[in-house]
Amino acid sequence: MMHKPVLVNEVMENLDIKPGEVVVDTTFGFGGHSKLISEKIGLKGLLIGIEQDEEVLSQVRDDFQKPNTKLIRANFRDLASILDGMQISKIDKILFDLGVASFHLDESKRGISFKGDEPLDMRLDKSKSVMASDIINEASEKELADIFYNFADEYLSRQIAKAIVDRRRKRKFLRTSDLVSEIVKIKGNKHGKTNPATKVFQALRIAVNDEYRAISEGVAAAIEKLNIGGRVAVISFHSGEDRLIKNIFKSNADVGSIKIITKKPIVPTRNEIRGNIRSRSAKLRVAERIK
Ligand SMILES: C[S@@+](CC[C@H](N)C(=O)[O-])C[C@H]1O[C@@H](n2cnc3c(N)ncnc32)[C@H](O)[C@@H]1O
Repeated sequence: MMHKPVLVNEVMENLDIKPGEVVVDTTFGFGGHSKLISEKIGLKGLLIGIEQDEEVLSQVRDDFQKPNTKLIRANFRDLASILDGMQISKIDKILFDLGVASFHLDESKRGISFKGDEPLDMRLDKSKSVMASDIINEASEKELADIFYNFADEYLSRQIAKAIVDRRRKRKFLRTSDLVSEIVKIKGNKHGKTNPATKVFQALRIAVNDEYRAISEGVAAAIEKLNIGGRVAVISFHSGEDRLIKNIFKSNADVGSIKIITKKPIVPTRNEIRGNIRSRSAKLRVAERIK
């Protein structure tokens, strides 16, 4: 399975898509949500699917050759210029399903998961030049500690950064196993619910792909481009991401441009989590443009 879409019913219910609407799926992935969106908008609607990873898009293009669908390889941070380029001034609904697809963790061989032994790459867009190994081998000890702390709340961030800098003087980091062994030295091998390497890997992926800035820019542009009455839905997968979305929504609500539909984020049912363990940390927030 390349990817099992999460919170599908909740997204469809809250976006309330109608025939003929213009909808953007900013994280197209394997099109799990978009398949339903495309059915809802019908032939008079338009679905714009954005995906930054060409390897993902190349696997789904054939299945989504539809008259109401346009797929674009791009970063959603460039949403405003993508829409301008298509001469679309306003949209009705927009979805962000953040992070990575199961494909990235299980099959991409880019070192996004700590489970295999893969090159320390982590780029979701392979046309970019900075890889995880570049950051690990070249960033200062303080920069590394800040990445681990700010992007994943890793409380042993400084000790891990120090261990990395000590080791790289002798031998550069090339593979995920090199990094895992340093983390285990500091955090130990035992773990409860989460693996000791989870946070460092998450933080590094966020840094490599500049994910937080892309989210801030993309969600701001989404709100700007929505028609009055239009809705934005965002699914996040960890606390830093969810905090970011909550704050962006709050500041837009404070100036009266949106109404927050989900006072508390919507989370998956126990049944969904049972069938798809990766959905367990998903949180859905929805807002409506009012001015
Ligand atoms: C959780 S998956 C989406 C899954 C999709 N909703 C589905 O049901 O198949 C996130 C996808 O968004 C892509 N992505 C993440 N950040 C992006 C960005 N800034 N711009 C464009 N695509 C992005 C990833 O490459 C990944 O394929």
